Amino acid sequence: MSTLTREATLDDELAQWCLTGTERTFPYPALLAHLRTVGKHFLEPALLERLAACRTRRLPAEDGTNGTDGMSGFLSRFLDVVLDKYDDRYDYPSYTALELLRRPPSGDWRKLRHRRDRLVLLLLADLVDFERKALEGHPEDPAEMLPDARVLDKRRRLAVRVMEPPALRVLAPGTVDPGAVAATPGRTCPGALADAVRSTLTGDERLLLSASLQPVYVLHDEYLFLRVLQSFEATFTFMSGALAFAVRQLHGEEPGEAAPAVAAVADVLKESLPLFSLLATMQPESFRIFRQFTDGASAIQSEGYKTFESLCSTPLRARLDSAAFTSVPRVRAAVLEGRETVQGTWHDVAASGWLKEADATAVRAAATQLESVHQRWKQTHYRLAVRMIGERTGTGSTDGVPYLEAVIANRLFPSLVRETTAA
Ligand code: HEM
Repeated sequence: MSTLTREATLDDELAQWCLTGTERTFPYPALLAHLRTVGKHFLEPALLERLAACRTRRLPAEDGTNGTDGMSGFLSRFLDVVLDKYDDRYDYPSYTALELLRRPPSGDWRKLRHRRDRLVLLLLADLVDFERKALEGHPEDPAEMLPDARVLDKRRRLAVRVMEPPALRVLAPGTVDPGAVAATPGRTCPGALADAVRSTLTGDERLLLSASLQPVYVLHDEYLFLRVLQSFEATFTFMSGALAFAVRQLHGEEPGEAAPAVAAVADVLKESLPLFSLLATMQPESFRIFRQFTDGASAIQSEGYKTFESLCSTPLRARLDSAAFTSVPRVRAAVLEGRETVQGTWHDVAASGWLKEADATAVRAAATQLESVHQRWKQTHYRLAVRMIGERTGTGSTDGVPYLEAVIANRLFPSLVRETTAA
């Protein structure tokens, strides 16, 4: 079908939906198929106007009565993501469709890790499947500038490397061989693992996966970029929730529960590091092209990352007043209102005698581990940025690589550095 015919058919479907559609009959597949063929940046003005009109609609109740429901959370958030550029609200959260993927990060760290594990598995299984279709000669959109088969295959294997640890925790025993993973990570068959994950998908999850992939342009590699960013975001959400849990435990009846939570944060961040190797398979030339249309969206606006950072210890005033935190005003406000941190609470509780020596040692060990993994995270991120953008400025209005080089000196737990220096 030509772009013009598809556009006309989509417009008919939307016009019809505006008259009689319900929440469930919204033409997601047709709209997403079109969006992925032209790129969100290039959606036609008439289509955008039509979608904006759809968004203002009051919907009939799903039970067929005349009662009008406002538009449901999901559909309205979905349309907000599609229309972010039209609304002049385009930023990193809307580019990565975080409002569709986000769940409140409260509760026990084990529950939060389970949720993160499942979401990362879904996102990466979807990527593995997308690359399989390209490898088999039937690429789906976005399909321009396809990498060669060797790169596509490597991509699938690197995705598996990140999937194995969560798969061992949340999939049925036997799906992944723990002995083989311990001996040589990344050897599980990508297709079999992706199929195992995809066989557990609910209808809502299928919609979620499809709705959350809205590239700005038509290049194949942007799919990878979005899924990697989203996998990191799911990880930061877990990290923030688990550190908030640790702070509560330090104050509460069971301060010894804090150390396992901080240790889990360090472990999960470490398991996520190969996401950078996966992203390094992106072709710098592709990135250079589609990046023209992502200006204004930068992970410097990641609330998940800055929440995690500011739950470790309170950032210095200079950092709080720099683009690092002025780009995330809600997180900055929470810090200025006195957000409690793991470092602050652990020192207070240790000084009051509430924390046993063994528990204090365990928290210190977990924090040291987290610091070291985070240093690796920043160094790897820096090297990737050098490779992908060289001397170009960042899309978050910093000077780019020099900014990333400078933040490597920051520490999550400055008191650990002081202790080491004093010893
Ligand atoms: C092509 C790969 C990447 C490049 C070229 C890149 C580049 C940059 C640049 C230049 C900045 C500085 C802010 C700006 O002006 O935009 C930045 C910040 C940041 N990036 Fe990336 N990035 C890449 C991938 C990622 C990924 C996969 C993540 C994971 C979510 C990520 C997370 C962050 C975070 C959290 C910051 C803020 C760091 C801080 O303020 O200390 N980046 N990135």
